[in-house]
Amino acid sequence: MDQHSTPVFDGLLKYKADQHFSFHVPGHKDGLVFPEKATAIFRQLLSIDATEVAGLDELYHPAGILRDGEKLLSDYYGTRASYFLVNGSTAGNLIMVLAACRRGDAVFVARDSHKSIFNALKLAGVRPVFLSPAVDADTGLATGVDDSAWEAAIRRFPKPKALILTYPNYYGMAASAARTLIAKAHACGAAVLVDEAHGPHFRLGAPVPPSTLDMGADLVVHSAHKMLPAMTMGAFLHVNSNRVAKERVTSAREMMQTSSPSYPIMASLDLARYYLAHLSSGQLNEWITHRNQFVKGLQRLKKIKVMEAEPGQFLLDPFKITLELKTEETGFDFQKQLLAAGIYPEMADPHRVLFTLGLTGRIDYKTALGKIGACLFKFHQGRAYELKSSYVFPMWSTLECPYDELDRMERKKTDLDHAAGQIAAEHVIPYPPGIPIIVQGERITKVQIGAVKNWLTAGAAFQNESINQGKITIYRAGAL
Ligand SMILES: Cc1ncc(COP(=O)(O)O)c(C=O)c1O
Repeated sequence: MDQHSTPVFDGLLKYKADQHFSFHVPGHKDGLVFPEKATAIFRQLLSIDATEVAGLDELYHPAGILRDGEKLLSDYYGTRASYFLVNGSTAGNLIMVLAACRRGDAVFVARDSHKSIFNALKLAGVRPVFLSPAVDADTGLATGVDDSAWEAAIRRFPKPKALILTYPNYYGMAASAARTLIAKAHACGAAVLVDEAHGPHFRLGAPVPPSTLDMGADLVVHSAHKMLPAMTMGAFLHVNSNRVAKERVTSAREMMQTSSPSYPIMASLDLARYYLAHLSSGQLNEWITHRNQFVKGLQRLKKIKVMEAEPGQFLLDPFKITLELKTEETGFDFQKQLLAAGIYPEMADPHRVLFTLGLTGRIDYKTALGKIGACLFKFHQGRAYELKSSYVFPMWSTLECPYDELDRMERKKTDLDHAAGQIAAEHVIPYPPGIPIIVQGERITKVQIGAVKNWLTAGAAFQNESINQGKITIYRAGAL
């Protein structure tokens, strides 16, 4: 196909040129009606901020520019079908699970999944079996489910309907076990759904890790907005086989998304695909060389360590850079200094700061490097703390009772010390490693409570306010 064309973007330009009177939504009338103080910033974008009006096609029944844009997308990724999403990988994950699973199905799920996957499991009413990912000895980070968790679970639950993986993780670690797991899942008839939110550029070739689309995954979600030049909320959903009926995917897509999709977002998705399709290997090499020089400079800074790949265990996305602190100060302290210097990282955890690079050679890494070095100047070499917890995540675990039974129970807060034997009504996730110590719906054990306390002492961050105060929400016996 002609990857030079950008049908969605071109269609919007035509709309802009043709239209003289807007007697339709949105209410800003192509930017005519807008608060004066914001007009200068918004004007250009509002002039193409249309939704489904005549000539601009329909997202859920495409027959024009959106059909053409999605066909080009599918052609670039080599899929059976690919779709634009306007509500991020969050919507994509909900759609994948609802399309592939039916109520009561046994589904294998990576324990370190994004919360949208947990929400999807609940919505679909499946029976999840949570598989624990391997933990990298060097960094303490979860690197993805490996073979041993699969083997342990498959002995007990021989007929899973689906396997749900995250690949790569937030830090860009792409588990080497993914290929084997996909083959094993297919061998026992399970569909493989992959949350590849952080890997929409994984079709670029080495040194960028391979996409699970190339390993035969059946449904794959990409947050285009995370790593490609696409607008926030723009994402892709790919159907890569006929294991899951396309009709179920399209129907779930309509159920989980707005009926007024944003055309600027979809045009940016069209342009992101165009950008990828036009990238030459020479250009990619140039960017990687530029990035490698930046990394070399970072490696010269004594108070940080740049995370490296562990061949055999995981590959690393070169467009993610994780800096591990070798100081008494934490990743959060480092982040504070960086923000003050105008450098905005993607995120921090107690030990690290993560940078997400752009697919370009245009970033002024030299100036950034000087500022990063200055931020570390007052830090003290040493170690803030060690995570001494000996807690080992169970190879697999299940919910204490089905989601709809959990849904009928009341909730209350209780002291962590009194929570053993109760059913958890919230996930308890320390960062790092970002794997739930306790999954909502699991019966809480004394060992898990000990682990939560260990992580708290070590300074790990929990998203739950209650945990930071030594409390946890549990389900109370008795139906609502
Ligand atoms: C692994 C993973 N999956 C899904 C999501 C949700 O993506 P989005 O923000 O595109 O909805 C995130 C967000 O950070 C994520 O890290």
